[in-house]
Amino acid sequence: MKALIIYFSQTGGTEKIAKQIQKGILKSGNECEMVRIKDAKNKKLVDFDLIGLGCPTFYYREPLSVKLFIQNIDNANGKHCFIFCTHGSVIGNTFYYMNEELNKKGYLVIGAFDSYSESSIQFYPQPMHTAKHPDDIELREAEEFGQKICNTSLRIQKGEKKLIPNFEEIENTWWARDSKLATPEALRSMTPKFIINIEKCTKCLTCQDNCPGDAIDVEADPPEIQKEGCIFCWFCEKLCPEEAIEADWTSARKLFKGNLRRYIKELKKAEEQGKFRPYVDYEKIK
Ligand SMILES: Cc1cc2nc3c(=O)[nH]c(=O)nc-3n(C[C@H](O)[C@H](O)[C@H](O)COP(=O)(O)O)c2cc1C
Repeated sequence: MKALIIYFSQTGGTEKIAKQIQKGILKSGNECEMVRIKDAKNKKLVDFDLIGLGCPTFYYREPLSVKLFIQNIDNANGKHCFIFCTHGSVIGNTFYYMNEELNKKGYLVIGAFDSYSESSIQFYPQPMHTAKHPDDIELREAEEFGQKICNTSLRIQKGEKKLIPNFEEIENTWWARDSKLATPEALRSMTPKFIINIEKCTKCLTCQDNCPGDAIDVEADPPEIQKEGCIFCWFCEKLCPEEAIEADWTSARKLFKGNLRRYIKELKKAEEQGKFRPYVDYEKIK
């Protein structure tokens, strides 16, 4: 079997998991290529028997750029795929929405894997509550997932339909409500406004080249940022070597302070269920 893993990763968590899954697939005697989502348009998905798609959780669901990516791929006519993601405290409805979009494109999702990951948000306190994730156990589990997934695909093809996972939408939780409110319009008004300081910008294009929504035009006069397509991931601000992208983080910090208690509650629940292992003392997170 020939598999292709397509992944979106900004700070490396999802990439680590993608590599482990690839390792597992190769160990199982199958072929597996891996490509970043930005380069995936150069791949012909019809050439592969199994597609894997992975991303971080943003705003309790899949990033907007991943939703658009799925909407732009060709119809697959029942081809098998698997999904994976990394997240901080709350994966939310990430798999539900990915599955929904992939189904619309004729893909059948035959497996899903998720892992905690160190959070990538610049104004979070350090150490973060999910520090040191994915840990060795999650990395091993990702490899094991990869080792099994091609065989799962074959078994489903032979008729074992009960192996097909069910992805139900979770509703009536605080994060499900927040996720519904996180429309691109709402995020634009709720999250920090970015500006490019033209005194500092050297037009190195780092921000523009790495923008998942193609929402930056440094060469425009004046330079444009957070154009239509922006997914409010704040990666550009983090990457700029000149610190030329400026933002007022006051409101985002306030929002985070309000949510921290809820995040820790979710992690404690996951800890009780054996799904999460903390490596920092929650009391020390300020
Ligand atoms: C803008 C933004 C929104 C995020 N939203 C969530 C979220 O809703 N739930 C969650 O658990 N983690 C959230 N995270 C944390 C990321 O999902 C987590 O850090 C992820 O592992 C990053 O993946 P990467 O290292 O592959 O880029 C968010 C991160 C960013 C930057």
